[in-house]
Amino acid sequence: MPSYSHDAMTSLVDVKHGLISREIFVNDDLYQQEQEQVFARAWLFIGHESQIPEPGDYVTSCMGEESVILTRDRDHHIHVFLNTCRHRGMKVCRYDEGNTPVFTCPYHGWSFATDGKLVGVPHQQAAYRGQLDVSQWGLIEVAQMTNYKGTIWATWDPAAPPFLDYLGEMKGYLDTALDCRDGREGGSEVIGGIQKWVIPANWKFAAENFAGDSYHNISHRSVDLVGIGPSGEGRRDMAERKRSKRVVSCIPNTGHSAVSFLEPEDMPFVPSYENNPVVRDYFQHVYEERRRRMGSASRLQGLVGTVFPNTSYLARQPRTISVWLPRGATKTEAWRWFLVDKDAPSEVKEVMRHYAMRYSGPGGMTEQDDMENWNYASAASKGVIARRYPYNYEMGVGLEYADNGLPGQVAERISEHNQRGFYQHWAKLMAALSWDEVMAR
Ligand code: FES
Ligand code: FE
Repeated sequence: MPSYSHDAMTSLVDVKHGLISREIFVNDDLYQQEQEQVFARAWLFIGHESQIPEPGDYVTSCMGEESVILTRDRDHHIHVFLNTCRHRGMKVCRYDEGNTPVFTCPYHGWSFATDGKLVGVPHQQAAYRGQLDVSQWGLIEVAQMTNYKGTIWATWDPAAPPFLDYLGEMKGYLDTALDCRDGREGGSEVIGGIQKWVIPANWKFAAENFAGDSYHNISHRSVDLVGIGPSGEGRRDMAERKRSKRVVSCIPNTGHSAVSFLEPEDMPFVPSYENNPVVRDYFQHVYEERRRRMGSASRLQGLVGTVFPNTSYLARQPRTISVWLPRGATKTEAWRWFLVDKDAPSEVKEVMRHYAMRYSGPGGMTEQDDMENWNYASAASKGVIARRYPYNYEMGVGLEYADNGLPGQVAERISEHNQRGFYQHWAKLMAALSWDEVMAR
């Protein structure tokens, strides 16, 4: 039974009045409840199939606080295992990535095949005298796993709804980050390694920012002035957006939300990378292909979004997936993957890789701005006095509406509608005893 009940969560998260307690960002007991109620039950992003193309390939990833192994077995099946030995708990795989026929535990040497089976026990006959049932002591596998357009997701909860039900109408927005620029489904690969860094703030600061904080442009003013964008203007290609309408969308009862652009029907291709004909021509080609393949649906251009609870995307080039891993009430480990169209010319991929490094993560020029905010906001919210005062999420209360052409409940550009949807769902999941309760409207 969760220690913070439904009533307690309602007093912490009052979306009707746009008031959310600082406790949910700093309190250790709430953090522990989150591990059970949110991270042990929700669908979580693990990695991309292009990271493990061959049998025996593996990468280590995380589900919430816990390390997992994403691997491809000899029959090409993908698995996600808890990265812990069944004998005495040693971390079985201590590398970030590689290829192996078996995972051999460094402590006493139990070996597990890439399908998770326990296949080697040192001195098995002499030590166990035939009493060890190896079929019962394989690696612990997730309850459900799916490969959605090349992205691998998993949950520890056998009762969780199937991934596509869990995603609901968010699919339409997530696809803007997962499909190729020309509108083909999937067909992406990860470029470079995964960026990993630590942020001294609660994971929800990052998740809600990507869920729909369209209000923090002042934070990025300096980098916009520098002009690191592909066309030498703002940090992203802003030219193509000047005629587009920005919308924030929240998918009710899921916690998922997105910020997107709706392009006018007659919007022409706006070239970026004009000084590089290969890259410019590639983007012109994919723009025209996208319009041809998708028709009016191509008008929806993704910007950012968060798949509840902790997977965010940036749908620009290169597309990114970020995961905000909880490491304590006021500590988060951020991991970021960069996606490009697998069949793009190598020069395009190389330019994207450079842009990713320039833009993103702690070594880029943009995101320190965000991290600086979360860092100081977290530190300034921990004290016993500060905790008495809730944050303000009033912006745009009651102004959301259903739009026939767009999934979810939509609001105009500047609103905290998405954040309220995120926390409403978070509070519900924190107190709910079953998925029936979570999914009930
Ligand atoms: Fe792994 Fe003992 S802890 S073999
Ligand atoms: Fe930002």
